[in-house]
Amino acid sequence: MRAEHRNTPTGLREPATAGTATAVAHPNIALIKYWGKRDERLVLPRTDSLSMTLDIFPTTTRVRLAPDREHDAVTLDGVPLRGEARRRVTAFLDLVRQRAGLARRAVVDTENTVPTGAGLASSASGFAALAVAAAAAYGLGLDAAALSRLARRGSGSASRSVFGGFALWHAGPDTGTDEEADLGSYAEPVPVGELDPALVIAVVHAGPKAVSSREAMRRTVDTSPLYEPWAVSSKDDLADMRVALHRGDLDAVGEIAERNALGMHATMLAARPAVRYLAPATLTVLDSVLQLRRDGVAAYATMDAGPNVKVLCRRGDADRVAGALRGAVPDGQVLVAGPGPGARLLCGERR
Ligand code: PMV
Repeated sequence: MRAEHRNTPTGLREPATAGTATAVAHPNIALIKYWGKRDERLVLPRTDSLSMTLDIFPTTTRVRLAPDREHDAVTLDGVPLRGEARRRVTAFLDLVRQRAGLARRAVVDTENTVPTGAGLASSASGFAALAVAAAAAYGLGLDAAALSRLARRGSGSASRSVFGGFALWHAGPDTGTDEEADLGSYAEPVPVGELDPALVIAVVHAGPKAVSSREAMRRTVDTSPLYEPWAVSSKDDLADMRVALHRGDLDAVGEIAERNALGMHATMLAARPAVRYLAPATLTVLDSVLQLRRDGVAAYATMDAGPNVKVLCRRGDADRVAGALRGAVPDGQVLVAGPGPGARLLCGERR
């Protein structure tokens, strides 16, 4: 991995002063997927997961305490949030307020460059940025693991976006008190060997998804006969993935990521009723990935809660892969990402 990609959040150890703080975070794409919760309130996953944070689509969030306000004010790209989206942010701020022992409401303004709700991890960058900014604005002074735990409460995958490069989110212990379970479930950076990867993203549809990942996970865990076998095999996938990353073996990393993602989608297809995020254009892209491999290019696909496809390859092959994907979906958008930085506070705005 290239040296400039910091995988530890920056600016987090300065003494936090209650007031105003702005944070930036990037989305991450899981190579070993998080799919299924064992506790919805605490957002505790059934399995460990592992991801790569991207260097594109940053989310910037500013949190300003507003003592005179009765309610939180939340905007996304300048538009006030309403309904469930607003409720999620307010519930998250309640958690921060409870920990800070402060009742003050806040004004939260987010600029999102990720297409929202399209399986491109906008909630990961969104809640990672919110966790870092809110923790600083409310003066919590949390370390990186604690920020990861906090971000997890907003959206599970956000726990990993606190870190740059590759991050492993521990599911944590299955027994014990709520407090012990919460403490044990956080992400941390994963060291990798010589690897210069790119993720080429084929956006075949950028609109919001029909079924939320929360609902889809619940349905899959509750009804899919394929869920338990996938959860068991995902443990082996993770162990194999760690070895492959350590060795810097991109082909092995890609093969494991692809099988883990296809397995996750199989669990959803077997849910009752089925959850199907994969669209015809998704399969067209998967065919082009197979063709790239036949042509000797190391390219491996992964898909999340949406029809878009992310193709892992060597950075040096990214242009060729992007060209093939553009040919496969001429109406889509194709972007190239590399490993990106962890969440960080923007300086110079402490009060
Ligand atoms: O964090 P959520 O609730 O948006 O769940 C995301 C789940 C997947 O993106 C499908 C997989 C993953 O590990 O990111």
